[in-house]
Amino acid sequence: MHIVALFSVFCLLNSAVCAGRADLPDAAFTVPLTGKTPRRQSKREALAALRGLPRKSDTVGLDGAAFDDEYLVNITVGGKNFQVILDTGSSDTWVAHEGFSCLDLNGTSVPASTCDFGPAQFNPEESATFRLYPNVTFYVRYGSGEFLSGPTGFDTVAVGGLSVTQQEIGVPNLNAFLGDGVSEGVFGLAFPGLTSVWNTTNLTEGTRNQIPYSPFFLSAVHQNKVKNPFFSISIDRPTFDEQAHDPFDPSLGSLAFGGIVPVPVLDTVATVPIQAYAPNANQIPVPSSAAGAKFEWYAIDIDSYTFSGSGDVVTKNNNTILDSGTTLNWVPTAVAEAYNALFSPAATLDPSTGMYVVDCNSTAPDFSVVVGATSFAIDPQDQVVPLRYSNGTVYCVSGTGDEGPDVPGNLFILGDVFLHNVVATYNPIDGEVTLTQRAPY
Ligand SMILES: *[C@@H]1O[C@H](CO)[C@@H](O)[C@H](O)[C@H]1NC(C)=O
Ligand SMILES: *[C@@H]1O[C@H](CO)[C@@H](O)[C@H](O)[C@H]1NC(C)=O
Ligand SMILES: *[C@@H]1O[C@H](CO)[C@@H](O)[C@H](O)[C@H]1NC(C)=O
Ligand SMILES: *[C@@H]1O[C@H](CO)[C@@H](O)[C@H](O)[C@H]1NC(C)=O
Ligand SMILES: *[C@@H]1O[C@H](CO)[C@@H](O)[C@H](O)[C@H]1NC(C)=O
Ligand SMILES: *[C@@H]1O[C@H](CO)[C@@H](O)[C@H](O)[C@H]1NC(C)=O
Ligand SMILES: *[C@@H]1O[C@H](CO)[C@@H](O)[C@H](O)[C@H]1NC(C)=O
Ligand SMILES: *[C@@H]1O[C@H](CO)[C@@H](O)[C@H](O)[C@H]1NC(C)=O
Repeated sequence: MHIVALFSVFCLLNSAVCAGRADLPDAAFTVPLTGKTPRRQSKREALAALRGLPRKSDTVGLDGAAFDDEYLVNITVGGKNFQVILDTGSSDTWVAHEGFSCLDLNGTSVPASTCDFGPAQFNPEESATFRLYPNVTFYVRYGSGEFLSGPTGFDTVAVGGLSVTQQEIGVPNLNAFLGDGVSEGVFGLAFPGLTSVWNTTNLTEGTRNQIPYSPFFLSAVHQNKVKNPFFSISIDRPTFDEQAHDPFDPSLGSLAFGGIVPVPVLDTVATVPIQAYAPNANQIPVPSSAAGAKFEWYAIDIDSYTFSGSGDVVTKNNNTILDSGTTLNWVPTAVAEAYNALFSPAATLDPSTGMYVVDCNSTAPDFSVVVGATSFAIDPQDQVVPLRYSNGTVYCVSGTGDEGPDVPGNLFILGDVFLHNVVATYNPIDGEVTLTQRAPY
C-alpha cells in the first residue's frame, strides 16, 4: 500500500500512486464537520418499523443521525446560521420553526424546551428570500416515535460556500423530537424518493400523496453550482475518551462538494453502483435499469465480509446502506454471530437490541468489507464502541451488530464504524459510490 498525497501536485510526480483515484476530481467546496455523541440506537428501531409497511405509508424517510451518534454541519438558510445533522440516510433539509410547539411522543403538548433543539430557529418572515409552498405539508415520522410537521417553503441554503437558491425545505412547527441541545435541524443528502412533502393540508387524511423534490445536492447540480456531480464525506474517529465523555467534538471530518475530500488515502479504491428499489415493493433492490426503479438510499452490494473463519458463513448481501447517521454496522445475523464470537473475552448478545456487549479493553478481531472486489479494512479501534447507561456508567458494544437474517426486504447498514475508515464519495447522478481507503490515523 502506498500513501497517496493530499495534493494533486504530488499525484503528478507520482502518477502510479494516484491512478486509483484519477477519476475523482478534487472538491471545489469543503466544509468541516463537528460531532456530538449521545449514542443511541433508534435507527435500528426505525428501520425495523419501516419493514412490513407498504411504501408511502405514514412512515417515510429516516433521520438516523438525530438518534445516533451525530455529525453536525453548519448551514445557512435565508442567510441565518444553523447547526444541523448531516444525514446520508434521509433526504430533507429542515430547521425548526421559531415559536414551534413541542409534543411528547404521544402527541401531548409539552414545553418547547423538552424538544431540546439548539438555540437557532427559523422565522420565515425574517427571511427576504423565503417563499411559502401553499397547500402542502412537511411531515416526517420516525419509527422510534418522533415526528415533525409544518410548512414547506423555498429559500437559499448555503453550505461551505455552495449556495442553492429556491431550495425546498421543511420548517416544522409541531415537533415531537428528542433533541440534544445542539442540533437545529437535519441536512439530508439521499434521494428524492425519501423526501417528506405531502399534497395535503389535512394530515388526518394521511400522507398518501408524496410530492418528491430535489434535495440540496441535486439542486446544486441542476443549478450548475458544482463542476462534477460528486459529494464526498470523511468522518473522523473520535478518541475513546471523546466518545465516552465529551458532549461535543469540534472537528471531526469534512463534507465536500464537486469532488473528493482532501484527506490522505491509500490506493485501495472501488466504484460500485447504487442499488435502486422496485416500485410498490418493500425495500426489494433492483438494478437501476429495471422498469420503474428509483433510488432512495445509498444502498450497495456487499461482495463479502472477511474475518477469521468468515469462509464458513455466507457473508454476501445486497441491500446495505451507507449511512453517516448510524453509529454501528448492522449486518446479517450469520455475520454478526461469527464475527462477535472472535472477541476475547467473548461478546454477549443483547437480544433486545441486537448489540453485542464487549469488554471495553478488548482488542477487536480484524474485519474487512469487500465491495467491488476490493477489500476495505476496518481499524479494530472502531469495533469497540463506548456507550453510556442513563446513570452515566460507560460500557462497550461491538461495532458490528445483528440486523436479522438476510432475506428480501431486510436492510443492513454500514455506519460510522465503517465510514471512519474510508472516504465515501457519492455520485447521485450516475448512481455510483466510490470508496477510498483512508491512510491509518
Ligand atoms: C458553526 O456554527 C456555530 C454556531 O453558529 C459556531 O459556534 C461554530 O464555530 C461554527 N463551526 C464552524 C466549523 O464553522
Ligand atoms: C404515552 O402513553 C403511554 C400509554 O398511555 C404511556 O405509558 C407513556 O408513558 C406515555 N409517554 C409519554 C412520553 O407521555
Ligand atoms: C390552496 O388551496 C386553496 C383552498 O383549496 C385554494 O383556494 C388555493 O387556490 C390553493 N392555492 C394554490 C397555490 O394552489
Ligand atoms: C395536489 O392535489 C391537487 C388536488 O388533488 C392537484 O390538483 C394538484 O395537481 C396536486 N399537486 C401536485 C404538486 O401534485
Ligand atoms: C381533515 O380530514 C378529516 C378526515 O377526512 C376530517 O374529518 C376533518 O374534518 C378534516 N379537517 C379539516 C380541518 O378539514
Ligand atoms: C481497562 O483499562 C483501563 C485503562 O485503560 C483500566 O483502568 C481498567 O482497569 C481496565 N479494565 C479491565 C476490566 O481490565
Ligand atoms: C448504571 O446502570 C447500569 C445498568 O443498569 C448498572 O449495571 C450499573 O451498575 C449502574 N452504575 C451505577 C454507578 O449505578
Ligand atoms: C438481492 O437483489 C435481487 C435483485 O437484484 C433481489 O431479487 C433479491 O431478492 C435480493 N436478495 C435479498 C436477500 O435481498
